Amino acid sequence: MKIELLADHPQLAEQVGRWHLKAWPEEYPKHGLSIAVDDARQTSRRNSLPLSLIALENGLAVGTISLVEKDLRGRENLSPWLTSLYVEPKFRFRGLARRLVEAGLDHASRLHISALYLWVVKNARVYERWGWRLVEHAHFAGQQVWILKGDVERLAPRQTTQQRGRKTRKPD
Ligand SMILES: CC(C)(COP(=O)(O)OP(=O)(O)OC[C@H]1O[C@@H](n2cnc3c(N)ncnc32)[C@H](O)[C@@H]1OP(=O)(O)O)[C@@H](O)C(=O)NCCC(=O)NCCS
Repeated sequence: MKIELLADHPQLAEQVGRWHLKAWPEEYPKHGLSIAVDDARQTSRRNSLPLSLIALENGLAVGTISLVEKDLRGRENLSPWLTSLYVEPKFRFRGLARRLVEAGLDHASRLHISALYLWVVKNARVYERWGWRLVEHAHFAGQQVWILKGDVERLAPRQTTQQRGRKTRKPD
């Protein structure tokens, strides 16, 4: 299984849009699919945000995650965010979500981002087990929301700071 930038697989933006629409239909009330796909295309950057990552198993897209500047209305003071984590149902419960979160942290580290936020309506404990810190418990649009913060240098697993510095950057 590989995790790569959506920027390197532009043909998969439509798939990412379909996943977003399926998981969060309330975000796309009108012209659902076309807006969801357009939004996904906007996350095709390499060296700045927003960017999306794609998990590929034997060439098949099986999951995604994004890094964005803004995610939760009313919390514009917190940025950037890890968001839109999605794994194809057939590929769940194999640790793929965790690998996508780790890949998101690695890319944040590559971009010299020191901390990431994320918000969830459930499963906050999972992120706490992975080392994220609960920073707020609030109510938004009638639902309970947990906001967590991840210290990128502490949690990004794969590369040393030296390796990150050496990596060649392709343009956006
Ligand atoms: C949530 C989701 C991304 C998990 O993907 P996954 O690849 O199955 O997750 P993992 O196998 O990496 O498991 C991650 C952890 O979450 C737990 N977990 C996974 N799915 C879960 C679920 N539906 N309910 C409760 N816990 C769950 C696992 O036990 C695991 O815990 P551990 O690390 O302590 O063992 C996937 O179910 C999904 O895409 N759901 C629809 C979209 C969504 O809800 N996204 C999350 C928004 S915050």
